[in-house]
Amino acid sequence: MLDELIRRNRSYRRFHQEVSISCETLRELVDLARLSASGANRQPLKYFLSCDPQRNALIFPHLAWAGYLSDWPGPVEGERPSAYILILCDTQISKSAGIDHGIASQSILLGAAEKGLGGCIIASVQRDALRQALGIDSRYEILHVLALGRPKETVIIEPVGPEGDIKYWRDAEGVHHVPKRSLDELIIG
Ligand SMILES: Cc1cc2nc3c(=O)[nH]c(=O)nc-3n(C[C@H](O)[C@H](O)[C@H](O)COP(=O)(O)O)c2cc1C
Repeated sequence: MLDELIRRNRSYRRFHQEVSISCETLRELVDLARLSASGANRQPLKYFLSCDPQRNALIFPHLAWAGYLSDWPGPVEGERPSAYILILCDTQISKSAGIDHGIASQSILLGAAEKGLGGCIIASVQRDALRQALGIDSRYEILHVLALGRPKETVIIEPVGPEGDIKYWRDAEGVHHVPKRSLDELIIG
């Protein structure tokens, strides 16, 4: 079950935008993050939720998509995320979140996959502009953004070829291919 969820939990960047995700669903996903590990149990992460088209429209322009797909500027209107979770560090609790936001993101995305949803971690964010657009207090550092929706694309895992290229690519049918290194390459001893 976990194995299947992890294999299904790919980075999705095109969605059925008309399929909405309720704020209650986002709260359920954040609850999975809430129960996840945190360095020294400091729990500095805070969350900003967006589940309506107006707020989503304020977030989207500040995100960069799929750097390796240089001729693709990101999802068109109609294929954009229907919700977002911004992961923030409350600097009044801790100056650094360590790796907490990575762990929290995986919990949220696995929870989303279990609900038939999908998403993408976006770290390439215009943070100052996004903070201003949403009126987020400077006490909260924007760490990254999770884009969420009902996936509208197929993603296939491929072995990394002999040339060692790890760049993902999209084929003529629009299928997204993600090379993953072999287990034997990863385990060095
Ligand atoms: C820390 C981190 C930051 C990422 N930032 C972005 C981003 O800014 N934009 C984007 O389109 N994808 C981003 N991704 C998604 C990666 O490109 C994706 O995980 C990678 O291509 C492997 O695909 P997979 O998630 O399906 O295994 C990010 C992933 C991680 C873990």
